[in-house]
This record gives sequence, structure tokens and C-alpha cells, in this order.
Amino acid sequence: MSLDEYKNFIKPPQSYWMASTPTTDYPKLTEDINVDVAIVGGGMSGISCAYMLAKEGVKVAILEADHILQGTTGHTTAKITSQHGLIYSKIKSKMSMEFAQQYADANESAIRLIEKIQNELHIDCDFMHQPAYVFTRQDQYVQKIKDEVDAASKLGIKASYVEKIPFDIPIKAALRFENQAQFHPRKYLLELAKEVIKNGGSIYEQTRAIDIEENGAYVISTKDGKKVTAEKVIIASHYPFYNKHGMYFARIYIERSYALGVKVKEKYPGGMYITAEDPAKSLRSQSSDDGELIIIGGEHHKTGQGKDTTKHYEALIAFSKDHFTVEDIPYRWSTQDCMTLDDVPYIGHYTSDTPNLYVATGYGKWGMTNSTVSAMILSDLIVRGSSPYQDVYNPSRKTIAASAKEFIKENINVAKELIKGKLSPLPNDFDIKPGEGKVINGNGERIGAFRDEKGVLHLVNTTCTHMGCELQWNSAERSWDCPCHGSRFTYEGDIIEGPAVMPLEYDRDVNTFEKLIKDDF
Ligand code: FES
Repeated sequence: MSLDEYKNFIKPPQSYWMASTPTTDYPKLTEDINVDVAIVGGGMSGISCAYMLAKEGVKVAILEADHILQGTTGHTTAKITSQHGLIYSKIKSKMSMEFAQQYADANESAIRLIEKIQNELHIDCDFMHQPAYVFTRQDQYVQKIKDEVDAASKLGIKASYVEKIPFDIPIKAALRFENQAQFHPRKYLLELAKEVIKNGGSIYEQTRAIDIEENGAYVISTKDGKKVTAEKVIIASHYPFYNKHGMYFARIYIERSYALGVKVKEKYPGGMYITAEDPAKSLRSQSSDDGELIIIGGEHHKTGQGKDTTKHYEALIAFSKDHFTVEDIPYRWSTQDCMTLDDVPYIGHYTSDTPNLYVATGYGKWGMTNSTVSAMILSDLIVRGSSPYQDVYNPSRKTIAASAKEFIKENINVAKELIKGKLSPLPNDFDIKPGEGKVINGNGERIGAFRDEKGVLHLVNTTCTHMGCELQWNSAERSWDCPCHGSRFTYEGDIIEGPAVMPLEYDRDVNTFEKLIKDDF
């Protein structure tokens, strides 16, 4: 596929993981139910938690708003690694050596656990050991890489400093972790989902949780009016939608990043790679029915912020062409990640005074191991009462207070976006070409308009249903994205990503606005 085809949106984005596996068809919840543990969210965290708990004899139910494993899990680069950029020197200096040790042990154990499960269940998920590299092409990162090798080695990780990587890319320095891995996440997790059912658990798709009541037990209400009563609840819905406790909306920010599945002339030399410098670029290979793909990921921006999102795909295409003879780009996709204030996920009790409500979020782009860590920690907390890794991941950890500067920065950013959206002048430009989306002035109201290839205009109310920020058009993915906490909506107003639980107003005034627009011409 050429760059022009991307620009013209000849083919919509599609991830290789989604394209190469079947979609699921679990039932919708049609009656009120009672379970031991209700899990909100059917991504890798929800499925892995359910698998671990159901194996222990716990009666679990997963409530998934759409279909399972389609969100961030279906749009990842799928590296199973304890190497999360330059995390260990950071945790060591900002938190403690003890916390760094817990983080290292948790993630190394997660790699081994995925390997063990796919072996035991004979899951054909392209699992493969690979070394993982962080490399830099800039002098100022050389010492940081040396420090990370030192920190990781002291924590027992097999890490080394190298000056060359197997690629023909001139580098200044690199860090290499041994015994890391890669796989096909949906091939692995679709089988785990089947095991959940075999072990007595339930999975409900098209079942959006919209509220939780607390009256001894928890009662989750769904969009269709059904109730799930549970002694314990895990919120694994990516961005937590439940605002009564924890102020998660004020301590998570959202980023989007991009990936290409590229076919190239050269043979891939093996290994998984990421640059130390920002914006990062990452590489790994993946076998497919149609030959080897190289997955090139990277670029990032806050969701709903930044004008032309196609430029991120363009940057990845340019990087691919700089380093390979590109023959085709059959896949491209983007994803959304929850980022925490100190770069360590929030996994554990929702708050220190909610002993039966749990959360797993904020994986900061390292979701394959961290979601497996969430299954390890939460199943231990629920079944045994403690986990060896609970302190570093504790959502109420004291060290978050040390991130006050980040807290203020992120919340000023949200406030600015909220005000900017409300005050920005309404454009009087009604010329909307097929494939184009923009905010228009509909009698003094902000209206989001998108014209499809058949010429049909789709109009939405651009006020986010979460907390009222004004949505921005995302040209690369054809969606309305929220700059405050990252909710995303289709051009017909349906929710793609939370924390919003209600869709946008969509077709209430289509005819009126069509007329308004025509009259204005
Ligand atoms: Fe919070 Fe939109 S996601 S206001």
C-alpha cells in the first residue's frame, strides 16, 4: 500500500492480530445474575484475571461492552518483556530498590507464566523467545542505558550493555535483555477465554457496565437494565469508568500510538527493539500466512490533542523506508494506552478503604506482561489476601504523592482542553468533502460533521458524555476523540473507548442540519 493510499483512506486501519483471528460471539447478559467476582472489561487483564480465578474455583463473570480482546489487546505490538524502556533506574531512584525488585520479579514471572500456560494448554500462539533491546542514536542517552543495565543486573535480570545490534542501524549504545518473548496475543487469549468457560466462568459481550452501587455486595447495572451482584468487583476496563472513589480521572492520562505491519525485501535478523529517545520507534517480526511481517510501532500523542493524526502513520512509513526495502504495508493500526503519574501501573485495591473493589490499569504501553501481572496480583489478593508484588503496584502507594508535579501538570492540561474546547470560535466552514470530518457551527452550537464516501453527512453533538470536554476529529481513525480523558466515539456517536459510558447524540437533527448547511451555501 502506498502512502497516498493511506492519505486517501482507501483502506481503513486494521491490526494484524484482529485480521488473523475470528471475532467472538459470547452472549449478551439477558438476566440478573449473582457471582463471586465480576470483572468489568474483557481485554487481556480481564481474561487473564478470570482464567486465574476460575481455576481456583471462584465463580467469575466478565462484562464486556463490545467484543472481548478488541481494544488495546487487539492493537498492541505484543512484546512479552520485563524491559519497559528505562524503568528500573527510574523506580530505583524515585521509589526504592525494594519496589524495583518487585517490579522486576513480577514482570519476569509474567513472562514465565505466559510461557507455562501456552505450553500446558498447547496453545499455538506463535510464542517465541527473543532478546529485547533498547538502543539509542543519541549521545545523551548512552549513560542512561549504562545506568539501566546496572540497575536491571542488580535486580537479577540478565541484562548487558552492547555497542552493536543485529540491524544495519548506526547506534551509540544499546541494552539487551535475555529470555524475553513475543507471541500472537489473540491466539493466546481466545484460548484462555475458552478455559474460563470450561472452568465454570461466564463471559458476556455487548454488555456495558454503566454504574456500580454499593450495599454490602456490589451491584453493577448494565446499559440494558440488567444487574450483576458480586461480592468483589475488578475494574479492568482500561480507563476506570467508576468515579466515586480514587479520582482516577485526575491521575491517568491517555496516549495514542501507531503501528504498521510491513512486508520488506530484507530478512529480519531476530530480536525486539525500541529506541530510548522520544518519540520511540519499536520493531519486531511476526510470521503470517502471507510471509514475514515486520511490526514497526511508535509515535505518540495525547488522545484528542494534535491536529493531523495521519502524520504519525507517515512518520512510521518514512522510518520503515529509511531502514528497509518496503514491498507492501498490508496492516496499520493505532492503539490507546493509560499512563500513570509515575509510570508504574495501578493494580490492587481501588482505594485503601475499598477492600472488595479492585482495579488494573495504567500499563504505560507495556500491557502484555503488566496485564499478566494484574492477574497474578489480583487473584492472589482475592484468593490468598496478599501478593509478593502488591506494594509497588498499589494504586494508593505513598510514592504517588511524590508525583505531585505530574498531577498538577496533567490536570492543568485537562482544564486547558476543557476551556479551549468551550471557547474556541465556531468555524463557518461548511464545505465537508467525502472522507472529511470537522466541527461546524449549527446555529451557534458545536456540531461534529463527517461526510462518508457516499456523500451522507453524519452529525454528532461534540460534547463528551464523560465530563463535558469538546471532542476533536481524528482524521486517521475517523473518530471523535476526547482530549481530557481519552474517550473515543465513532462518527455515528457510538463509544469506541471509555471512560464514557453513554454514546453521543447522533441523529436527532440530521435533517435540520443538512438543511442548515445547504441554506448556508
Ligand atoms: Fe472525560 Fe471526555 S473522557 S470528558
